[in-house]
Amino acid sequence: MSRRLIIGLAPISFAIPAAGLALALVAAGTGLAIAQPAPAPSATQPVINKADLPGRQIFDHQCAPCHGAGPGDDGAPMLPATALLTRKYEGNKPGALELRTDLDAEVLRYFVRNGSGGMPMFRKSELTDAQVDAVAAYLAATARASGG
Ligand code: HEC
Repeated sequence: MSRRLIIGLAPISFAIPAAGLALALVAAGTGLAIAQPAPAPSATQPVINKADLPGRQIFDHQCAPCHGAGPGDDGAPMLPATALLTRKYEGNKPGALELRTDLDAEVLRYFVRNGSGGMPMFRKSELTDAQVDAVAAYLAATARASGG
C-alpha cells in the first residue's frame, strides 16, 4: 500500500477554502494535528508534495535544516541554503532542492562529498552512498509530484 502525505497546502487552502477544508480533514484523518491557521501564501513558499520514500527521512534530518522550503525559526522567510540558491539561480531554478529536477544521484554525490561554499561535505561514515542515492530518489519524486 502506498501512502503519501501532502504537506505545504497553505497557498491552496488560502485560495480555495472548501478544498482546503477537505484536505485539512484528510490530513486530520491521517493523525496529523493542524494546530495553527495557515499562514498567508507568498512567492517564497513553494508548495511541495513530499514523497513517502526512505530518502525523505534522511533529507529531513541531514539536509532540510538548511535546504527545506519552510520559513526559518528566526522568522526569515527562507532557510539559508534555499535563500542562497534562490539568489544564485535568479529564478532559473527553484531554491528548494525538493523542486529541482536536475539533481540526479551523480550530481548529488558530487556536492555531498565535496561540499560547496556554505555547504558542508559529508563523509561516507556520516552518509553512505546508498543514503545519498535514496535522497536523490526522494528529490526526483518530490520534484515530479510538485509539477517540476
Ligand atoms: C549547514 C547547511 C547545509 C546542510 C546541512 C546541507 N547543505 Fe547543501 N548547501 C548549503 C548551502 C549554503 C549551499 C549553497 C552553496 C553555495 O552555492 O555557495 C548548498 C548547496 C547544495 C547543492 C548545490 C546546488 C546548486 O545548484 O548549486 C546541493 C546539490 C546540496 N547542497 C545538497 C545537499 C544535500 C543532499 C544535503 C543533505 C545530505 C545538504 N545539501 C545539506 C548548505 C547545506
